[in-house]
Amino acid sequence: MNVHVSALAKNGTRDPKDSVFARDVIDGLARQPKQLPPKYFYDETGSELFEQITVLPEYYPTRTELGILSDRGADIAAIIPKGAALVEFGAGATTKVRLLLDRCAFDAYVPVDISGAFLNGQADALRKDFPHLAVHPVVADFTTPFALPGAVKAMPKVGFFPGSTLGNFEPHEASAFLRSARAILGDGATMIVGVDLEKDERLLHDAYNDAAGITGRFNKNVLVRINRELGGDFDLSGFAHRAIYNRERHRIEMHLVSLKAQTVRIFGQDMSFRAGETIHTESSYKYSVERFQALARGAGWTPRASWTDDNGMFSVHAVVASD
Ligand code: AVJ
Repeated sequence: MNVHVSALAKNGTRDPKDSVFARDVIDGLARQPKQLPPKYFYDETGSELFEQITVLPEYYPTRTELGILSDRGADIAAIIPKGAALVEFGAGATTKVRLLLDRCAFDAYVPVDISGAFLNGQADALRKDFPHLAVHPVVADFTTPFALPGAVKAMPKVGFFPGSTLGNFEPHEASAFLRSARAILGDGATMIVGVDLEKDERLLHDAYNDAAGITGRFNKNVLVRINRELGGDFDLSGFAHRAIYNRERHRIEMHLVSLKAQTVRIFGQDMSFRAGETIHTESSYKYSVERFQALARGAGWTPRASWTDDNGMFSVHAVVASD
């Protein structure tokens, strides 16, 4: 594909064609099979839809992880050194981190997220509720190396990566992320990671095909966003939500299926879709406790404890930096 872009539009504002979003969309839709990165689900509408997903009856991960963090709070607190800094990779709703902050003696909290406005809002709320906690937000893409604030350098570090966000990474990316977190947090660090487990296919299927259709709206929101931000003309009724479990690859795949042969224009460029052709919009890898532990070992971490709920639906792991 030959895309000519100029750094600045005539009026001096950034041309949307130059954004990373635009490049990722153009690259992803030029691939065979077509794909889009899941991180683009989360604009304001997408984040709101995701919050709705977390309380759906079929979507067990959020409530199950909260249950584990709450029930195992004392066990987690026992592992964590006094006066440590808690570094959260990606900062969504503060519900989960509040469970840790309530139960463990942290001196500092470092939420790391790409969205500065969101981070600062969350930081203010936490400062009010935890007056003795030093909150140092870092605006960064947590998948690339970033520096910890000077104020926490001397404190013991505890990483926190809940929500099975790890499942969105390809296995080699998950390994690279854990390795990078090991480098950022340093020797002696601990990390708490939430990981969704493999289970009965029906339960997995239902969690991503909810009866109320919220997951479908969440999936299609990426097209809404392309239409709005990149001047696309996707006809939403021409695409259907599909989520299937790929057992060989241990992952849920979300797709948007083109219901007919159609052409979509983005930046005045035509993109054609065959009837039945899909855009792969998300993979959500599921692990066994053992497969996660092996992944962690290979990335410089030693498994210290693994907790699951009674039904074996979700897991929370404590790993410590290997020497
Ligand atoms: C935020 C990546 C954990 O994979 O379950 C929920 C996102 N996608 N429903 C997941 C999601 C569809 C979610 N993660």
